[in-house]
Amino acid sequence: MVNLEKIISLCKRRGFITPSSEMYGGFESGYDYGFLGVLLKNNIKQSWWNEMIQYRDDIVGVDASILMSPKVWEASGHLSAGFTDPLVECKKCHHRFRRDHLENNKCPDCGGELTKEKKFNLMMKTFVGSVEDKADTIYLRGETAQGIYMNYPFMRDAMRMKIPFGIAQIGKAFRNEITPRYFIFKTREFEQMEMQYFVVPDEKKKEKIFNYWKEERMKWYLDLGIKKEDLRFKEHAKNELAHYAKKAVDVEYKFPWGWDEIEGIHDRGDWDLSNHGKHSGHDLSYYDEKTKKKFIPHIIETSAGVDRGVLVFLLNAYDEITGGRTTTTEAQKEAEVVLRLSNKIAPIKTAILPLAKNKEDITKKARQVYDLLKSHWMCQYDEAGSIGRRYRRQDEIGTPYCITIDFDSLDKNDVTVRDRDTMKQERIKIDELVDYLKDKLQ
Ligand code: GAP
Repeated sequence: MVNLEKIISLCKRRGFITPSSEMYGGFESGYDYGFLGVLLKNNIKQSWWNEMIQYRDDIVGVDASILMSPKVWEASGHLSAGFTDPLVECKKCHHRFRRDHLENNKCPDCGGELTKEKKFNLMMKTFVGSVEDKADTIYLRGETAQGIYMNYPFMRDAMRMKIPFGIAQIGKAFRNEITPRYFIFKTREFEQMEMQYFVVPDEKKKEKIFNYWKEERMKWYLDLGIKKEDLRFKEHAKNELAHYAKKAVDVEYKFPWGWDEIEGIHDRGDWDLSNHGKHSGHDLSYYDEKTKKKFIPHIIETSAGVDRGVLVFLLNAYDEITGGRTTTTEAQKEAEVVLRLSNKIAPIKTAILPLAKNKEDITKKARQVYDLLKSHWMCQYDEAGSIGRRYRRQDEIGTPYCITIDFDSLDKNDVTVRDRDTMKQERIKIDELVDYLKDKLQ
């Protein structure tokens, strides 16, 4: 398996992801997505949005505010003991750790004695208004789910949703993590893709729906090319459950440091809607016209981390070929990196590479092909360096198809399309190129 350092290095070298505020020495646990990073991330989010919303008719999307009334977080239980981590501090070097991540009672950095465990709340505070007093304290949302619950009555009525139905959202969440780590795996600012499915409070029916969503979510990772043997489910024991959950199953990925969580499927029961009903004084029950019954819906949630997704797709796609895979002597000297990303999420879909830089006819034709394709997909035009180098630059960022234009293209009005993974080349008429690529890239 590829080690994390190689991914971090590729991300920096090729403009996917860099540490935040790097010119000031970086800001712990913050990362910036560069051009290729944001393209990859957007494609992942779009794929999720398509599968969860566009291709279905029982789920709608929202984009709720990050800053909400602090009453939301009181009602949801995030300000009390439920949303805390056990914190210990070394008495000697003052480094802080999560108690449940330690194997013994000594500081892992200097061997010093540790303080007693304290409950550390993960909600990030900020202030609104001009006076920094307690009345103005608000919180950056710790999960996007609460914004969905705030929209439950509006979407139910305005979109005429009938149970079972879902509301989904993609957006930033913030947690004051004690030990951010493993690059973008665990950070204090991250993005979530969450879906809350509102169902009847019937344990048998709920179990069926829970299992359905488990399989759907696993299928999404598999369809985007994650190797089956690197994915598994892991059910939480009762004492590991979050304060809102009655049942939780994680989708785990086999990371370089071991199996770890990328997504959670949770049965939240009526925890959220009952509490918001009580705290707000609003009746959040649902009237079922078919059964003539009124009830507080239960919630089955799917909650995926976007950044963890990005990391998993990069780790899964990374391939390094020692000695090179082409026959040029230059390539044989170097290890070649190929990012075997699914066509659906690759940041750049095609690269247009004229074979003779100084021949005006050829570059003009190549520019025409570029203009034709870029109205359909994210493309790159590159005429700098040898063709071998240009292919390797594209392989390294996961571009599925490279298109070369040569002297023959001028007479025959065609191009050569090279496949990233097989390196096979095919001549395609320019008139047929869009349809040819549509077929391959869908
Ligand atoms: N609404 C339920 C919820 O937030 P969670 O298990 O705490 O559940 C869901 O988080 C997902 O969000 C995780 O599986 C992970 O992918 C992502 N996530 C949580 N904390 C994160 C962090 N500090 N950094 C990056 N991603 C995180």
